[in-house]
Amino acid sequence: MKGVILAGGTGTRLGPFTKLLNKHLLPVGHYPMIYWSIEKLGNSGIEDILIITNEKDLNDFKIVLGNGNHLGVNIEYAIQPYAGGISHGLFYAKDFVKEEKFVLLLGDNIFEDALLPYVEKFLKQNEGAKILLKRVHDPERYGIATVDNSTNQITSIIEKPKNPPSNLCVTGIYMYNNDVFHYIDKLKKSERGELEITDINNIYISEKKLTYEILNGWWIDAGTHDSLFRANQLVQKKFNKLGNDKNE
Ligand code: G1P
Repeated sequence: MKGVILAGGTGTRLGPFTKLLNKHLLPVGHYPMIYWSIEKLGNSGIEDILIITNEKDLNDFKIVLGNGNHLGVNIEYAIQPYAGGISHGLFYAKDFVKEEKFVLLLGDNIFEDALLPYVEKFLKQNEGAKILLKRVHDPERYGIATVDNSTNQITSIIEKPKNPPSNLCVTGIYMYNNDVFHYIDKLKKSERGELEITDINNIYISEKKLTYEILNGWWIDAGTHDSLFRANQLVQKKFNKLGNDKNE
């Protein structure tokens, strides 16, 4: 299994810092934000990781992460030429993924759960995709899933709903096989001018091939100043508890 981390975007909500530095290199705890995604993948046995970012920021990632060997993983890089959405960014992972299953992480998602149990379940899944959900208090900010409790299936996902049908947020933790690249080819731009990951997941839903799990621990999309601050607090607490700061 391989890992893909999306670390592009403009990060405008984290200005002025992001005028200088890519959002995913801002500090969370003792490390750049993206370290946490790499650690989650590495701890679940995924060593081959592709980081997709902008051309402007590529060299900064290479300075900080290099080939990833000091973190116990092998990192390769790909460029997303413009900020065209999550599915657009994912398209640039096609040559790296080849025939394997993979985990896609949004690099600004910081979370407590280990990925291994979910990865193991997905490896046993014969076809389709798996996504991870989390109950949130601000569902208007995210992709929101509706689940049919009688069948335990997701029936729809709505991107940033004005009237959220539930509080089950689709986190930026997705598992696919290489079928996903055929689906990306079929996508059309959304109203916000992007190729949406929600549109991909809705295709899987229409084919009854999307499974889900709900995260147990905390989860944060650290894309705003408030949530970045919260991510720092939570990571710091976890550090102290486990005392697993590898640099000390
Ligand atoms: C993206 C997805 C959304 C998901 C969120 C999780 O939102 O489009 O479905 O809930 O990531 O972080 P965006 O960061 O593009 O606003």
